[in-house]
Amino acid sequence: MKKLRRATDSGREDPENATVDQISLFDQKTVTLRGWIANFRSSGKIAFLQIRDGTGIIQCVGDVQELGPEKFEKLKALTLESSLIVEGVVRKDARSKIGYEIGLKDFEILNISPEFPIGNKEHGVAFLMEHRHLWLRSSRQVALLRVRSEVIRAIRDYFDGRGFYLMDSPILTPNACEGTSTLFETPYFDDKAYLTQSGQLYGEASALALGKIYVFGPTFRAEKSKTRRHLTEFWMVEPEVAFMDIYGDMDLAEDFVEYVVQRTIKNRKTELEYLERNLEPLSRVRKPFPRITYEAAIDILNKNGKPAAFGDDFGGDEETVISQQFDRPVMIHHYPLAIKAFYMKQSEENPKLAACVDMIAPEGYGEIIGGGQREDNMEKLVKRLEEQKLPKEAFEWYLDLRRFGSVPHAGFGLGVERTVAWITGVPHVRETIPFPRMMEKIFP
Ligand code: 4AD
Ligand code: MG
Repeated sequence: MKKLRRATDSGREDPENATVDQISLFDQKTVTLRGWIANFRSSGKIAFLQIRDGTGIIQCVGDVQELGPEKFEKLKALTLESSLIVEGVVRKDARSKIGYEIGLKDFEILNISPEFPIGNKEHGVAFLMEHRHLWLRSSRQVALLRVRSEVIRAIRDYFDGRGFYLMDSPILTPNACEGTSTLFETPYFDDKAYLTQSGQLYGEASALALGKIYVFGPTFRAEKSKTRRHLTEFWMVEPEVAFMDIYGDMDLAEDFVEYVVQRTIKNRKTELEYLERNLEPLSRVRKPFPRITYEAAIDILNKNGKPAAFGDDFGGDEETVISQQFDRPVMIHHYPLAIKAFYMKQSEENPKLAACVDMIAPEGYGEIIGGGQREDNMEKLVKRLEEQKLPKEAFEWYLDLRRFGSVPHAGFGLGVERTVAWITGVPHVRETIPFPRMMEKIFP
């Protein structure tokens, strides 16, 4: 009976390509379903198979009378994660979480798994991480990664629907964007190259060509931080807009984050409930978000037992104290110029400050957005490169953007994994990307 799926199937309304998420379309009909054993038990004359197919889990009931004794015996060989194709009749079942089960008429086993390393018992994180390729099959990981997929879809829909062009930036680059201490270097024929830390500089060139653009791709940082917020490879979306200033940038950031959060909780409610995420704080993520200056943030820290002074940068602990004062994401703007990247625009009101912004997520999830207005004055930008001891030659192409038709422009970068960790409520970013890369983790 082997019936493989057609590559073009959508699963909808086609009983031979049924999927668990669409099963209610097929009440009383005979369907073909493909999947893996998520659980299995049998008693003399009847067997209960929990089959997962990537879209959900459904119980299939095999009965010796319907299948015949020979076929029924074969069912008993099934083990956790064995793969099979089943054919059976969909019927309503009040005890089922999804409201339906399948009465088996026939099946074909594709592979009998030896003992699956990840059972129902508790496993340590190190063990699960070593088996990430198999851990992905667990219901919790499936739910998390479905949310990730939806977050990415919302990001794309937001920009695609508002006149932004997607402009890919290179991964192999000749220069640093976010400081030289976290660069991954790689040989490049007779020369060397660096894995990109941010697509921003190329995004700026693209914005001066197409007006409103976004860069979306993987970025790399040789971060020696072993925290729950740091990966060495993470995905970042970076809009960049010509003729926009820091205030327009903050308007864009809050509108965008509101959209991504509200759409994800609407479209992935089942998964978020499965993950036991409290949706109440997320439902409050509505604009306007509070905006405070860096100096106001320093005051908050001093009043809440975290002494701080002008010139200090904020780490995770400081961000948490500040975010606890608010019931939604907070934007901190105008940090000291001296602690920020070379491209940040010097404030016109106060030369000690940069026209930049960080957005801090609530509930201790820390910085999810960093961005700001870019220095569009040639002389000032050259001076900043010198101050930060960056090689001017490598940035000549970037300086051209100030030579030829320089305009005020701004943008930001949002980290996908930190955003998914916040929306799903998981404590560590390692579960929010299929195969996390961290300081001590590059396998599998
Ligand atoms: O604040 P960052 O370093 O900003 C930039 O890279 C700018 N060039 C972006 C721009 O303006 N176009 O990084 C932006 C965001 C952070 O707020 C955080 O969400 C995420 O990227 N991020 C990380 N996520 C996971 N692991 C890391 N090591 C991260 N570093 C930054
Ligand atoms: Mg930052």
